[in-house]
Amino acid sequence: MLLHILILVLCSFALAKPTPPQQNDFPLCYSLPGSPSYPIKQQWAALNISLDGNLISTTPLASPCHNAQPGTYNATACTALQQAWPLPQTHYTDSASIMANFFTNNSCNPFSPPGDKCDSSGFVAYSARVRGVQDIQETIAFATAHNVRLAIRNTGHDYLGKSNAPGGLAIWTHFLKEIEVIHDYRSPSGDSKREAGGYTGPAMKLGAGVQGFEARKAAAEAGYILATGNCDTIGIAGGYTQGGGHGQLTSRFGLAADQVLEWEVVLASGEVAVATPEDPEYEDLYWALSGGGGGVFGVVVSVTVKVFREVRTVAGALSFSTSCGGNEIVFRRAVDTFIARLGALLDVRGVGAWFLTRDSLSLSPVSILGGSSQDLHRVLDPVVDVLEEGNLSCSYQVQEYPTYYDSYEAMTPEYNVTDLHGGNILIPRSVLETNMDGLTSRIWEILDSGNETAISGISVNASLHETNQSPGNSVNPAWREAAISAVVVLPFTYTDWPRNLERRRQITQTLLPKLERLTPAGEGGAYLNEADPNQPDWQHVFYGDNYDRLLGIKRKYDPDGTFYALTGVGSEEWVNGDDGRLCRSDSYLSQSR
Ligand SMILES: Cc1cc2nc3c(=O)[nH]c(=O)nc-3n(C[C@H](O)[C@H](O)[C@H](O)COP(=O)(O)OP(=O)(O)OC[C@H]3O[C@@H](n4cnc5c(N)ncnc54)[C@H](O)[C@@H]3O)c2cc1C
Ligand SMILES: *[C@@H]1O[C@H](CO)[C@@H](O)[C@H](O)[C@H]1NC(C)=O
Ligand SMILES: *[C@@H]1O[C@H](CO)[C@@H](O)[C@H](O)[C@H]1NC(C)=O
Ligand SMILES: *[C@@H]1O[C@H](CO)[C@@H](O)[C@H](O)[C@H]1NC(C)=O
Ligand SMILES: *[C@@H]1O[C@H](CO)[C@@H](O)[C@H](O)[C@H]1NC(C)=O
Ligand SMILES: *[C@@H]1O[C@H](CO)[C@@H](O)[C@H](O)[C@H]1NC(C)=O
Ligand SMILES: *[C@@H]1O[C@H](CO)[C@@H](O)[C@H](O)[C@H]1NC(C)=O
Ligand SMILES: *[C@@H]1O[C@H](CO)[C@@H](O)[C@H](O)[C@H]1NC(C)=O
Repeated sequence: MLLHILILVLCSFALAKPTPPQQNDFPLCYSLPGSPSYPIKQQWAALNISLDGNLISTTPLASPCHNAQPGTYNATACTALQQAWPLPQTHYTDSASIMANFFTNNSCNPFSPPGDKCDSSGFVAYSARVRGVQDIQETIAFATAHNVRLAIRNTGHDYLGKSNAPGGLAIWTHFLKEIEVIHDYRSPSGDSKREAGGYTGPAMKLGAGVQGFEARKAAAEAGYILATGNCDTIGIAGGYTQGGGHGQLTSRFGLAADQVLEWEVVLASGEVAVATPEDPEYEDLYWALSGGGGGVFGVVVSVTVKVFREVRTVAGALSFSTSCGGNEIVFRRAVDTFIARLGALLDVRGVGAWFLTRDSLSLSPVSILGGSSQDLHRVLDPVVDVLEEGNLSCSYQVQEYPTYYDSYEAMTPEYNVTDLHGGNILIPRSVLETNMDGLTSRIWEILDSGNETAISGISVNASLHETNQSPGNSVNPAWREAAISAVVVLPFTYTDWPRNLERRRQITQTLLPKLERLTPAGEGGAYLNEADPNQPDWQHVFYGDNYDRLLGIKRKYDPDGTFYALTGVGSEEWVNGDDGRLCRSDSYLSQSR
């Protein structure tokens, strides 16, 4: 509110006198620790009291690896931390750490020498361990009143660092773990026309802190299954479902965003909204939250999603590499055959996650909900035939499970923190039908460009059809046509920062354009959760034709820009300064003048 008033004052000042707005740090920029306008200790203490002691002044997780303050270096603790660093739980149990280290400006690096700098500058300075609506309201009000940048964080999984806010204050939702199974959910009745599209059936209400493994387990105990990611520790209500969310249910029931029945949200104003597709009051907010990206429209307190009855599931894994006999030609022919078989996989409502390098392919898991061994064999045997003919040995496994839960437990690999630079493109099914040679030759061009380049592919069928019904949402329309979300990846390095910048440039400028050129100009799309943070024309690429409506809804519910996320809706109104400060962008200032 204060920010809003001051901007208004500034704007009227600017109107009266055609000079550019003042370049002081308030309120054109969020305040950073050390600046005179940043809240003082007593003010933070007051917030802490209103949160019953749940405010944390953050310490960088890797402090034991450095002498930031005399005596903080501890070789034993540092070694233990370095070993545990790849594990997601090392980060999601911390109040500030994020998994995409690139977005911490190297401010406390666990793998750099003890004498290197280590401070909190790349992380949130404070983290509010919220217990519910009221704590969230208090935290938003404090941040707004004091011009402190907010972050909404649950797990810190986000590849684009969107759950971080250097120098800011986190709303840490991780402890909102409540789960409720609703056996007979009924859409709130709207007018009769809308009711026809409503939902009656089983559902689950999940607190904002609930992670995949917790939701799956609670669902299984009640005989249900629900949409979660392949990585079991990502949260449901945050970036995953708000961003679209693919997983092993997608080809049958749609993306995670398609399952949402209700969002319970604290808005920037502090008001609480329950957004459903039926209630006209927040129907726009429902639409925006279901696919328009995490962390920009409000703080989700809980999400209610459809769940489904358990079914038999077939799952498998296939991997082969040039080091298992055969030769390069056989290897490439088998990979080309594999890519050509993806259409068949999607037609039988299968899904697959695969990882391809210049000399190895690993498909794990591949599964068909409700499918049989024969179904999966029919899809993959042609690939195995190529391998066998060429004497390239491989590991190939197909197994039927009585339930999806069992299949997931047995066949879904555990994911560590992914230390990589990535950027993806959604490759339309039509490319597989009409330009397979173009697709495979681009893939080999990318992989041949360096021995560290890889492609991480997700193949799901998110088209809408009889068992995949969506009430209408803001998921990037490119998802509905896509056969592959192809993430081009290069490794992240903790020891050579300039190299990281170079690799990011390589992805944006050289590697991704090779895949982008497969689709006619303007028709491509990308999955915003696995995207290149430097994607040109990101508004269209990440959100498709939905962007303008999303931006209107963003301005309606968050007129002051309380919630910012890199490449999030409305983020063009801000710019990240070289000093880490988030400031109003020139385009915003010229608009509001
Ligand atoms: C190893 C790994 C595997 C992955 N696998 C998959 C996969 O199989 N399928 C898939 O679709 N994606 C996958 N992803 C991408 C994943 O969906 C995103 O990283 C997602 O942002 C994670 O959401 P989160 O809420 O757990 O993370 P966080 O980093 O905590 O938050 C992500 C974003 O959501 C916002 N947010 C979090 N909670 C809330 C809330 N309560 N209200 C409003 N905004 C909120 C944050 O502000 C941030 O913008 C994977 C990522 C990783 C690192
Ligand atoms: C908030 O209060 C709790 C309990 O008194 C205390 O442990 C914690 O350090 C305080 N946080 C801050 C930021 O002062
Ligand atoms: C160093 O860390 C270890 C493991 O966390 C701990 O047991 C030990 O007490 C620490 N040593 C000092 C001097 O703090
Ligand atoms: C994840 O990291 C842990 C700890 O470093 C390691 O032991 C484990 O092998 C890793 N798992 C995978 C799948 O890479
Ligand atoms: C999804 O499957 C249906 C048939 O089952 C098919 O018509 C459609 O093209 C598929 N979509 C994609 C993107 O593969
Ligand atoms: C595969 O091995 C068999 C038997 O060793 C051999 O006859 C055949 O020529 C080999 N095929 C290729 C493609 O190398
Ligand atoms: C890639 O090639 C470089 C030299 O060109 C070599 O130093 C490096 O070890 C190779 N890396 C891998 C993963 O093969
Ligand atoms: C990153 O850290 C350096 C100091 O190591 C600092 O000079 C720079 O301003 C920081 N950049 C951002 C964007 O925070």
